[in-house]
Amino acid sequence: MTGAGGGFGRRLARQLAERGAIVACVDVDSGANQRSVDGAIRAAAATGRLSSKPAALAFQANLANREETYKVVKDVEEKLGPVDIVISAAVCFTTYDIGGFDDDEIDFLIDLNLKSTIWVSIPELPKYA
Ligand SMILES: NC(=O)c1ccc[n+]([C@@H]2O[C@H](COP(=O)([O-])OP(=O)(O)OC[C@H]3O[C@@H](n4cnc5c(N)ncnc54)[C@H](O)[C@@H]3O)[C@@H](O)[C@H]2O)c1
Repeated sequence: MTGAGGGFGRRLARQLAERGAIVACVDVDSGANQRSVDGAIRAAAATGRLSSKPAALAFQANLANREETYKVVKDVEEKLGPVDIVISAAVCFTTYDIGGFDDDEIDFLIDLNLKSTIWVSIPELPKYA
């Protein structure tokens, strides 16, 4: 789950954990991400389901950076095993004024909001070929 520290990502991480998933929570904001992980673990525990692994684990990465994204996917797989579902909810807008973006911001926004979804999925794709 990318963007697990925020609105959609946090809620989905919790709902998946409640349904028995082990959720790899990835976010650039490690404090917010850890709060999501703690909430997902509490929600899973409240269902009474027993598991030998924690329901969620935090991973910190800036997903606007390709190398960091590939590395975090590798770290997730090393710690938790193969990924079954990828949900890409890490998103950021620096401004909603279309005339207000400079070139660096345009690169950042496309890297995070578009390319990170592809980068985070690429290592998983061969399994589904
Ligand atoms: N929340 C809503 O009601 C709603 C409704 C419709 C659409 N959306 C869209 O859904 C998307 C997600 O919404 P949200 O409310 O969850 O947003 P959010 O801002 O609450 O969460 C986004 C998360 O992405 C993380 N993030 C930002 N930059 C990052 C980076 N470089 N690397 C890793 N993580 C990074 C943030 O730390 C944050 O935790 C947005 O595109 C939003 O416009 C949201």
